[in-house]
Amino acid sequence: MATGSRTVAVIGAAGKMGQRVSNNLVKSDFTTLFAENSPKGQELIRELGRELTDSADAAAQADVVILAVPDVVLGTVSEQLVPVMKPGAILLTLDPAAAYAGLLTRRADVHNAVAHPCHPSVFLERTTKEEWADTFGGIAAPQEVVASFEPAAESADPAAQELAEAVISTMYAPVVEVHWVTVKQLAVLEPTLVETIACMVGALLTEALHETVHTVGVPEKAARAMLLGHTQVALANTLKGSNPFSDACLIAMDYGRESIVRDDWKNVFQDDELDKVITRMLKIKEIKR
Ligand SMILES: NC(=O)c1ccc[n+]([C@@H]2O[C@H](COP(=O)([O-])OP(=O)(O)OC[C@H]3O[C@@H](n4cnc5c(N)ncnc54)[C@H](O)[C@@H]3O)[C@@H](O)[C@H]2O)c1
Repeated sequence: MATGSRTVAVIGAAGKMGQRVSNNLVKSDFTTLFAENSPKGQELIRELGRELTDSADAAAQADVVILAVPDVVLGTVSEQLVPVMKPGAILLTLDPAAAYAGLLTRRADVHNAVAHPCHPSVFLERTTKEEWADTFGGIAAPQEVVASFEPAAESADPAAQELAEAVISTMYAPVVEVHWVTVKQLAVLEPTLVETIACMVGALLTEALHETVHTVGVPEKAARAMLLGHTQVALANTLKGSNPFSDACLIAMDYGRESIVRDDWKNVFQDDELDKVITRMLKIKEIKR
C-alpha cells in the first residue's frame, strides 16, 4: 500500500506509548502529526525536534487518529475529536477496554480499530544485543500484534483495514503478523489472559522470591538464580512441551495448586467477571452496550 500520501495523528505523543509509536512512525513514509496537552510533554516533543499540532487540528487532517492517551480519558478525548475527523478516517486505540465498555464516541462514517502489541515472545530466537534488550518490543525484537477492526456503518471500504494494518505494523515494528479478532476477544486477551493472569503470576513470582530471601533467609543470589532458571524451564515445559516434569515435581505442583489456587479461578473468563475488571480499570459504573 502507498503510505506516503497518508496522514497519521498521534494524540498523547509524549506518553509512554505515544513516544514509542511516534519513534517508529517518523522513520516511515506516513506524514505524522504530534499532539500533546501537558506542558511538560509538549516540551519533550519539541526537544525531540518534532512539531506540535493542536489535537483537534491533527484529528481533522488525519486518515488515522491514534489515541495514545490514558484509558480513563478516552471517553472525553474521543467525544472532542471524533466529531472533527474526516469521513472514512480510522480511530485507532491501543487497548480494548474503552472500546469494549462502549466509552468511545462513534460515527457512522468513521472506522474503529484497536491494536495491542503482544510484546516479543519469551521463546523468540534473539540473535543481537538490541533484540535481547528490547523486552517491550517496537525497537529491535520482532513481535506479533492482536487487533480488531469495526468498519464504519456507512462505508464498506476494504482499503481501510489495509491502511489500519499498515499503520499498526509500522508503529509497533518490527511486526511479524497482525492477528484480527473481535473487540470482546481482544478484551479477553487483555486484561484477562495477560494482565489478570500472566502479569499477576509474574508479580507472585517476585513476591515468592522476596519471601525466600527475606523471611526464610536464603542468599539472594542463589534464590534468584534458581528462580530465573526454573521459570524458563517451567514455561518451556508447559507452554512448549520441551521436557516432561519429574514425578516428584508433579506432586509438588499439585500441592502448590491445592494450597495457592482457588478452585473457581476460571470464573475470570466469564462475561460478568470481564465486565467487573474492566469497570474497575476504567473507574466507571457500568459497561454500555
Ligand atoms: N504503557 C503501556 O505499557 C501500554 C501498552 C499497551 C497499550 N497501552 C495503551 O496505550 C494508551 C496510552 O497509555 P500510556 O501508558 O502510554 O499513557 P501515558 O499516561 O504514559 O501517556 C498519555 C499521554 O497522553 C497525554 N494526554 C492526556 N490527555 C490528553 C489530551 N486530551 N490531549 C492530548 N494529550 C493528552 C498525557 O499528557 C500523556 O503524555 C492506553 O490506551 C494504554 O492502555 C499502554
